[in-house]
Amino acid sequence: MSMLRFDESGARSTERTYASPDVAAQRREVLSLLAPRPGERVLDVGSGPGYLLASIAEAVGPTGAAHGLDPSPAMNALATARTDGMPWVHIDDGDAVALPYPDGAFDAAASIQVYEYVADIAGALSELRRVLRPGGRSLILDTDADSLVWHTADQELHRRVLAAWEEHLVHPRLPRTLAGLLRRAGFQVTEQRVYAMFNAQLAPDAFSTRYMDTIARFVVGRQGLREADAAAWLADLRARSDEGDYLFSINRYVFLATAT
Ligand SMILES: C[S@@+](CC[C@H](N)C(=O)[O-])C[C@H]1O[C@@H](n2cnc3c(N)ncnc32)[C@H](O)[C@@H]1O
Repeated sequence: MSMLRFDESGARSTERTYASPDVAAQRREVLSLLAPRPGERVLDVGSGPGYLLASIAEAVGPTGAAHGLDPSPAMNALATARTDGMPWVHIDDGDAVALPYPDGAFDAAASIQVYEYVADIAGALSELRRVLRPGGRSLILDTDADSLVWHTADQELHRRVLAAWEEHLVHPRLPRTLAGLLRRAGFQVTEQRVYAMFNAQLAPDAFSTRYMDTIARFVVGRQGLREADAAAWLADLRARSDEGDYLFSINRYVFLATAT
């Protein structure tokens, strides 16, 4: 079974979801922890629709360089449009496991919800280490599927939907092994923290409102789920909201590490 596809419609759907105030707040946190400075060379691995890349570019300014790398042409088109007018931004077609840059090319790098999709995680981290200068800093953020709390009435259907949704990633529980993987790749882990995404209401622009639609589309045809099952699961969540009983939360785990 294939993972989530970042083709034209997948890229646009990610762009819409990541425009939500919840994801924008997460990005502000990431940016303040990465703290890109004027004149720095910074890489965003798996830059997707380019929201973070645009903010990095503003921070490093024209004396620096901001590179976004992604294998999805549709994502790269969105990132190119988003960073138009900033010639110090470069959108590069490529894969995290074979970065098209020389050794020590960057002062800092970020990779937000990307390594969970990459099968050869050790190879990808070794590449990240290679393209950072010694002392260069990195920030990695990924989700652990077990951190998801979502209130539904039909627990059995919910369990099947989440089992099917796990197929969208290669590593649904990457954070619990990431610190060790980083150390073995030649990083010193300087900080680990959790960022909780929390919705107490099913507001139109809430992250979980858009997330549930993505999940409902993805799970049909997996784990024996039909269109009607996905519709029933969505209706269950909406009913929780109508009854004033809605609760969604998921954790993003953040790792700050320095290249040794
Ligand atoms: C969930 S999106 C996150 C995008 C972006 N980092 C953000 O936070 O807005 C995952 C991104 O990872 C990219 N991706 C998937 N596999 C990759 C790989 N092997 N190397 C680099 N990027 C990859 C996808 O194309 C997609 O743009």
